[in-house]
Amino acid sequence: MGATVVVDAFWGDSGKGKIAAYLAKRMDHPWCFRAGTGTNAGHSIYFKDGRTIKTHQLPGAIATSDKVAIGSGVAVNPKIFLKEVEEYGQGKDIFVDLRCPVILPEYIEQEQGRLKNEIGSTASGTGVTLSEFKLRKVKQAKDIEELVPYLCDNALLANMTCEAHKDIIIEGSQGTFLSLALSYDYPYVTSDNCTTAALVDDVGLNWQYIKNVILVVKTMPTRVGPGFLPHEMGAKQIQSLKIEEYGVTTGRLRRKARQIDMGLLAESIMLNGPTQIALTFCDHYGITNSLILADTIEDHFNIPVTILDKGKYFEDIEERGYGAILE
Ligand code: IMP
Ligand code: MG
Repeated sequence: MGATVVVDAFWGDSGKGKIAAYLAKRMDHPWCFRAGTGTNAGHSIYFKDGRTIKTHQLPGAIATSDKVAIGSGVAVNPKIFLKEVEEYGQGKDIFVDLRCPVILPEYIEQEQGRLKNEIGSTASGTGVTLSEFKLRKVKQAKDIEELVPYLCDNALLANMTCEAHKDIIIEGSQGTFLSLALSYDYPYVTSDNCTTAALVDDVGLNWQYIKNVILVVKTMPTRVGPGFLPHEMGAKQIQSLKIEEYGVTTGRLRRKARQIDMGLLAESIMLNGPTQIALTFCDHYGITNSLILADTIEDHFNIPVTILDKGKYFEDIEERGYGAILE
């Protein structure tokens, strides 16, 4: 028992939230913690019965879990939080760490210029909030009246839950190569690191409780905004293959690669230390190609590929080697 960390291998938008929701359903009612930077992320989860969950603040795990919490390193926008709680959180336990820095409208305003135009920022106010946090100028969740009913010490919650020999899930946002201090692409990065260690830090979990790290590898990596993207396809090719994707937060067409880059995967594995790999967007890459890729990755890196996401819907997730994900 302990923490399973769900971390993105490349530039995000890999379906981490969906994988975390799958794990939450598969495990025995774990607490699910949202890590990452702030509301710049967007999770969409579609069910075959027509139900759709779209969040920016709550973890994607809210789609299946009734116990979710936001780590103290994550910037919180009270308006977005309260709206998502109203929409998806009825009757559930939802906690915000009392120390979370709060996104103010003026911070969002400040991201409209250079950050949005040159860096391709989602202009969610996350970056300015985290920088003001470092300058020791922000309001924290405990200072906001509307958040009072949701306040908790989530670091304590995470550590005590693991101490009691129960499972928790830590769901990341963004992706490894958007990491502020680890990407070679600065300034085309997000406002903090997004690796396993950074996510665990966002929640305040003692590293000794980490049990599994699931690296979510998008078979055709995408990137929104400028910066390095090896094996990038042209927009026309993406559209002719009918595999275009649009950003949940910004509506922008995502840049897309025709395949993963093994060198970058090796680096992502080095930085994140995964115990397992989930391959996503297998329908875009082709199911046969994805199965070959899963074998190649296992041979090359000696890390089991335990999950395949084969389609748009939650129900399209399949396990490879049933039971392996819980070991
Ligand atoms: P910011 O974090 O909104 O300031 O954006 C900085 C860069 O990170 C931009 O290129 C964004 O497109 C990218 N980015 C931020 N959050 C996400 C995410 O959740 N998925 C993918 N890209 C993101
Ligand atoms: Mg952080």
